[in-house]
Amino acid sequence: MIDTKLRSRLFPSRVHHAPRPRTLRYAHLIGWGMEVPSQVLSNSDLEAIVDTDDEWIVSRTGIKERRIAEPRETTTSLATRAAQKALDVADVLPSEIDLIIVATATPEYIFPSTASMVQDMLGATNAGAFDLSAACSGFVYGLDMACSKIRTGEITTAVVIGAETLSRVVDWTDRGTCILFGDGAGAVVLQGSDLPGGILSSILRSDGSGWDMLTLPTVSSRDTYLQDGIHQMHRIYMDGKGVYRFATRIIGDSIRDALEMAGLTTDDLAMVIPHQANQRIIDYAAKALKIPEEKVYSNVARFGNTSAASIPIALAEAAEAGKIKPGDVLALVGFGGGLSWATTIIEWSSRPERPAYSLTWGRRQGEYAIAGVRRPIVRWWRRLMLLSPSSIIRYSRYLLTRRNGAAPPHPSDDDNR
Ligand code: UT7
Repeated sequence: MIDTKLRSRLFPSRVHHAPRPRTLRYAHLIGWGMEVPSQVLSNSDLEAIVDTDDEWIVSRTGIKERRIAEPRETTTSLATRAAQKALDVADVLPSEIDLIIVATATPEYIFPSTASMVQDMLGATNAGAFDLSAACSGFVYGLDMACSKIRTGEITTAVVIGAETLSRVVDWTDRGTCILFGDGAGAVVLQGSDLPGGILSSILRSDGSGWDMLTLPTVSSRDTYLQDGIHQMHRIYMDGKGVYRFATRIIGDSIRDALEMAGLTTDDLAMVIPHQANQRIIDYAAKALKIPEEKVYSNVARFGNTSAASIPIALAEAAEAGKIKPGDVLALVGFGGGLSWATTIIEWSSRPERPAYSLTWGRRQGEYAIAGVRRPIVRWWRRLMLLSPSSIIRYSRYLLTRRNGAAPPHPSDDDNR
């Protein structure tokens, strides 16, 4: 057996090693933002849609109203706006972003990822981008993924977003689910630093044996699953009682385990931000952790359950309202479809005041404007590069037949995105 030092002397690596930080870095949350549609759907509005009433909804869920996206609003547009607000707070340029993660259960497309479209809208030309599917736990999973890349020094700045347009996949005839869900997006900017703090620990868990308790089938779902008359393609199905029992079972232990991993206890907690599924689950978290209810943040009454977006929306609201001070220890806990659950412990280190409009603000607006101009130019340039003389002839023929009304629109004509 040759020892590692000897091996490296005998067989020196020919790969050029980029300088790396010698110690692990810390991932700090330095910006936050949220975007919700302006259209409000109240419990009394729902009374006209399904057989329900305000009293039942409030007593069983705590929800009074939720936001519903207008037709022009998409998961991408909400995510982009939330990210822009987070970049403003962090005072970071789009070109400085290394990674964009969008946690969502309602992407516009399976591919391209919503994250890639957000990357394009922001003009984050140096960023990698991908979507993350872990239902209501997705944002916490995303934080952990970005944090790991930052800790190793591979990247410095990441934007993690939770964004949903659940109103488009809700079964509006099912009173057991349609009263719960809403639309919105929340985002944070994470940045690496050698100063201790930021994300201290994370616990990610899954129990796939409960996959059928909360589902949203898409095109490749098993046919048998969709033939029972209960489940429908592109519609949410939930075994509410089962998910409720699961959530109350894991919430306390998950937070305690993540605190232990960070060397902390529940006494150190300044605030818990749970997934906003149901006020009864939120109250249960306080009871399970033996902490005052005021320490568990809730906005479920105003936004309902926005799945992956609920935690970053709540975090952005709490931070914006000055409810979190530097040095505070927070626990973010998500749970839902998968079944999946995740907790992350954060030592808040962000400066409480929002930076005044700076030179960077102007540069950020410039980068957004350049992204808007760049998009059509790059798309046309790419198309031009693909053109050979024969394809020009083919396309001209196609345009001629189309003018005569004989051909359907060519997919590449759609440049309006
Ligand atoms: O985001 C992912 C995580 N999701 C969750 O954590 C959701 C967890 N589950 C829950 O929050 C609750 O289970 C629900 C709010 C979904 C339901 O509350 P519940 O106390 O478990 O009610 P239930 O489903 O057991 O229904 C009780 C009764 C039923 O009537 P019967 O069979 O007792 O006559 C339902 O038909 O309430 C009826 N009901 C309603 N009545 C008026 C169900 N939905 C409604 C409604 N309005 N919207």
